[in-house]
Amino acid sequence: MPSAEKPAESTSAVDIAPQPSGLVVHEQRAGTGTPLVLIHAFPLDSRMWSRVIDLLPPGFPVYTVDLPGLGTAPSPDQLGEHLDAPAGPTLELSADGVAAALADAGLKRAVFIGLSMGGYVALALLERHPELIAGLGLFDTKTTADLQQGRTNRLRIAHDLQAAGSVDSVLGMAETLVGESTVATRPAIVQQIRTWISEQTADAVAWSQRAMAARPDRTDVLIGYEGPVSVVVGEQDTLSPVAPSRLMAQNAPNSTFDIIGDVGHLTAVEAPEEVAHLVAKLMDRVQ
Ligand code: MLT
Repeated sequence: MPSAEKPAESTSAVDIAPQPSGLVVHEQRAGTGTPLVLIHAFPLDSRMWSRVIDLLPPGFPVYTVDLPGLGTAPSPDQLGEHLDAPAGPTLELSADGVAAALADAGLKRAVFIGLSMGGYVALALLERHPELIAGLGLFDTKTTADLQQGRTNRLRIAHDLQAAGSVDSVLGMAETLVGESTVATRPAIVQQIRTWISEQTADAVAWSQRAMAARPDRTDVLIGYEGPVSVVVGEQDTLSPVAPSRLMAQNAPNSTFDIIGDVGHLTAVEAPEEVAHLVAKLMDRVQ
């Protein structure tokens, strides 16, 4: 080949890692027995679980998954194409993406723990793929749908995010996601959450808001589930408060209910020791 026909710079395939178009369950540690899959909150990614993972007792394998467009995940459009499904915005797409990722990793069943939006996705998974669920952790989340005002608010936020092309308008969520005690005494945690939010894209955050706005009530799905359920809530959680969380636990036939004192909505970030302990308790009921 004459040298003039050669590309000026080598960009051979080995230099560029192909990006998966489906969701991926990332193995955080190997182990034996029923695996644990941790599903993150909005508008974050699976890094929010890292301290909890460090504090878990040895034994079971642990996986995390980034939801569509967030963290390292492909965009909802790529995922829709991958699954040959409409790109939403719906949490059903997220749940189907998690189910496909589990199959890709060769996993047949797992315990799923979802915090807030992660809990909404875990409930959609329970409804759509019940055979995958060996146990369920519903942390700082709810089975109910949004009221009309909440839905309208989400759609307005989604619109504003995309109009601005930036996540700046939701950076302030760092303070509402945590409890008042954390805001008052642990600024480094608030700053960490702010940084994680700043690293998401406006499109992905807007898509997630629209998907959450469209989610149906899944109380009956939980009522019909007889496997082990752990409901956990931060005492100062203003987004998924204690009283409805207690009710959610009462609705699950085989559940435990724990309140973590002095923290808000992001229990896994604000109280990783307590959360790791409660995760281990749920895993003990399953193993
Ligand atoms: C979350 O933490 O995932 C969000 O607060 C969920 C929501 O907005 O309902």
